[in-house]
Amino acid sequence: MSKLYVEGNKSLNGNVIISGSKNAALPILFMSILTEEKVKISNVPNLTDINIALKLLIYLGVKIKYNKILYIDASSINIFYAPYHLIKKIRASIWILGPLLARFGKAKIFLPGGCKIGNRPVDLHLNGLIKLGATITLKNNCIDAYVKGRLQGKYIFMKRISVGATITIMSAATLAEGFTIIDNAAREPEIVDIAKFLNTLGANIIGAGSNKIYIKGVIKLNGGTHKIIPDRIETGTFLVAAAASQGLITCHETEPKHLNSILMKLTEAGAKIKTGKDWIQLDMRGKRPKSLHIHTSPYPGFPTDMQAQFALLNSISEGIGTITETIFDNRFIYTSELINMGAKIKVQNNNTIICHGIPKLTSSNVFCSDLRASATLILAGCIAVGLTIVHRTYHLIRGYELFPDKLNQLGADIKII
Ligand code: UD1
Repeated sequence: MSKLYVEGNKSLNGNVIISGSKNAALPILFMSILTEEKVKISNVPNLTDINIALKLLIYLGVKIKYNKILYIDASSINIFYAPYHLIKKIRASIWILGPLLARFGKAKIFLPGGCKIGNRPVDLHLNGLIKLGATITLKNNCIDAYVKGRLQGKYIFMKRISVGATITIMSAATLAEGFTIIDNAAREPEIVDIAKFLNTLGANIIGAGSNKIYIKGVIKLNGGTHKIIPDRIETGTFLVAAAASQGLITCHETEPKHLNSILMKLTEAGAKIKTGKDWIQLDMRGKRPKSLHIHTSPYPGFPTDMQAQFALLNSISEGIGTITETIFDNRFIYTSELINMGAKIKVQNNNTIICHGIPKLTSSNVFCSDLRASATLILAGCIAVGLTIVHRTYHLIRGYELFPDKLNQLGADIKII
């Protein structure tokens, strides 16, 4: 998929099934190598990021079977090195480091790649592992880590809340000797899902989902079965699709509790929202949304991964809205593409955008800069006047399963070229 032709002026309506969470599935794949016994994982989304993660595991010697359900057998890992050509493609590949080190006492990996959404250091991952007793050297963009014997449990205060570093430390501490406490931990639902998975394998983790996680290390983990949680960002993206196109969409097989901050903002924008045990319905028929003021922040705050979609919503809403990004330092690249479509957006101080809503965007040629920006520009094409051509959509399939197909089922007219 390199280009999408998106016919505009559409109202999106109907039912959509939400896929498994990319950001839970990716770390869980890497955590699976903490055990030499077999692991079975369901609800894994079929995405290029997942396929790259699997290639990396296969390179290390892991046996994989993947046909909707993923079977992982990491009993015969014989390589402890992750090469540049695989690791550069996804940021998530940093999560191979903690499990390799905890189980085998050594790991060598290149610094990871990922979405270009600002400076993305890995110091908190590395400092956490060093606190647990690892010796780490960084030379020519390559991390070389080893530990003599087992890692040692410690109290670790995270000087900044980091999803990725919380996952690295939590995974490594499962096999450490003694207790680890992660203070000021990230509280995202994905962290809770990973802890649940590790506990299924016999780990001893409590407190995931709060800002203090307690881990009592065990000598080894067993096999087990786990189902990945629904993707809250994919859910949020489809709810914005309904809100921005004045439609009615019901998302199924999702978890409403994970979207509180998003649902609050959509309600403030004027949407009628109903929820059930595993579904959310958003109704914006016949109503133009109202502009919103948003600050991104770590969970349970408003997710940075939803700010581009809400910038689109503000672009066509009544009034003036603002979005302040507090997590990443360069996450407004996509705004120039919305501006090409007529949006009245100004970037202020690099971390805030001010948006004067207009009734309609107009079609254009637009270029995707990252994953969430891709979904946003496709939605923008669906509601703009005319035919929008969306370029560089390879970012999209990294993180959204069958996005154009799902939108077409809701009444969009998107052709993949
Ligand atoms: C994860 C998600 C990403 C989401 C982000 C924040 C995955 C694959 N990605 O990314 O979609 O947008 O959480 O919810 O799950 N930081 C440091 N040093 C570190 C690590 C992070 O300074 O060692 C900084 C980052 O640059 C950023 C902030 O901490 O400014 C938060 O990053 P973090 O929560 O770690 O995000 P990721 O795990 O990379």
